Amino acid sequence: MSTERQLRLGTILQGASGNMSAWRHPAAVADASINFDFVLETARIAEQGKFDFLFVADGLYINEKSIPHFLNRFEPITVLSALASVTHHLGLVGTLSTSYSEPFTVARQFASLDHLSKGRAGWNVVTSPLEGSAKNFSRAQHPDHALRYRIADEYLEVVKGLWNSWEEDAFIRDKASGQFFDPAKLHTLNHHGDFFQVAGPLNIGRTPQGRPIIFQAGASDDGKKLAAHHADAIFTHQETLEEAKAFYRDVKTQLEQYGRRHDELHIFQGVSVIVGDSEEDAEQQYQTTAALVSIDDALNYLGRYFEHHDFSQYPLDEPFPDIGDLGQNSFRSTTDEIKRNARERHLTLRQVALESASPRPRFSGTPQQVADGLQQWFENYAADGFIIQGGTPDTFPRFVDNVVPLLQARGLFRTQYPGTTLRESLGLPLPVNPFSQQ
Ligand SMILES: Cc1cc2nc3c(=O)[nH]c(=O)nc-3n(C[C@H](O)[C@H](O)[C@H](O)COP(=O)(O)O)c2cc1C
Repeated sequence: MSTERQLRLGTILQGASGNMSAWRHPAAVADASINFDFVLETARIAEQGKFDFLFVADGLYINEKSIPHFLNRFEPITVLSALASVTHHLGLVGTLSTSYSEPFTVARQFASLDHLSKGRAGWNVVTSPLEGSAKNFSRAQHPDHALRYRIADEYLEVVKGLWNSWEEDAFIRDKASGQFFDPAKLHTLNHHGDFFQVAGPLNIGRTPQGRPIIFQAGASDDGKKLAAHHADAIFTHQETLEEAKAFYRDVKTQLEQYGRRHDELHIFQGVSVIVGDSEEDAEQQYQTTAALVSIDDALNYLGRYFEHHDFSQYPLDEPFPDIGDLGQNSFRSTTDEIKRNARERHLTLRQVALESASPRPRFSGTPQQVADGLQQWFENYAADGFIIQGGTPDTFPRFVDNVVPLLQARGLFRTQYPGTTLRESLGLPLPVNPFSQQ
């Protein structure tokens, strides 16, 4: 295998598929979001394809307008723990919010997942965009965007500190002497900050990866800053090659202010894909799935990004309505993009809603065409890797069977795993416990 820069691949659990009404597709497993056999099969295919990781997104608030996958799905840590014992190389990345959880609990959960999976745990740090989440966590108010990111920054300091509680060889377990651990290798955090007071130490030892891998999803300026400070990987989504290149350059440059190298953080573009026998077949597959989405579903889907705003009150075939600042405190980077796109392309509300609810796949066509697209983005430094989102129910197996071998033949993707941990797959160095260095 080539020693050149290699691209990396993840896939995302999204139930029957990313499309708003995908569960209605004739080939869809309609209960896929809550069907562990389906999850297991997806993980097995990913591992067969030598994928770096499987990614589980999450949210903390639903209502009757939420998309079907969000209504009835597994909690990330739980489903990843179940996968830990039946997979062997696949990274297991789960989303957990810093706005609605406690750092001690989360540090402990991901450390446990790292031990259970022998070094394959990843935490996707999100700040929770949905205002309704507050109502599920006994809070009077959803923290605003800037405050969420300030909390997240301190939260990550605390969690990383807790993960350094024990040095690698702290547990001696010497039956003869009766010494269970070496007190010199135990370090108590004693964190006192603006948002958290956490004494520590953590009640689980240093993990196989030194600490779990940290992902970040959130593309606003504050989101990028958080990633540059703390993350090993970013999950993001840009519309065009130029935008993705600009995002890539921006985040990599920001690493420097934290004394980090450009290869210490991988940028993953989330890309929807359809793989066809021919270009026409791929287009036909897209049309079949897009036709399942009604305009009412599409308006609900769009509304979710804007704090569940009711878009049915506006005329469908007039320009996208002026909704002011709506969306600034939720999915800011995404809502900014939707508004900008509507303005620049003079789209009607109907067009915006349908494009949001059943977007055209980023890469579509024959396996060669899909591989060419990925290669172009990778080689132009628009991404270090991709999170593949299947546009139809059978896209993912088709991708693994037909696109992965092309990427491998081109020397762009591995033919075997370099080790057993997610850190090894991502080519990231093992962090040294700062206390071990003293
Ligand atoms: C590609 C992408 C994936 C995301 N995935 C999740 C998720 O699974 N759960 C969640 O609560 N928020 C998710 N978010 C939302 C962010 O964590 C964040 O709360 C929101 O986007 C606002 O931050 P931003 O303006 O920095 O993007 C995601 C955002 C992006 C851009």
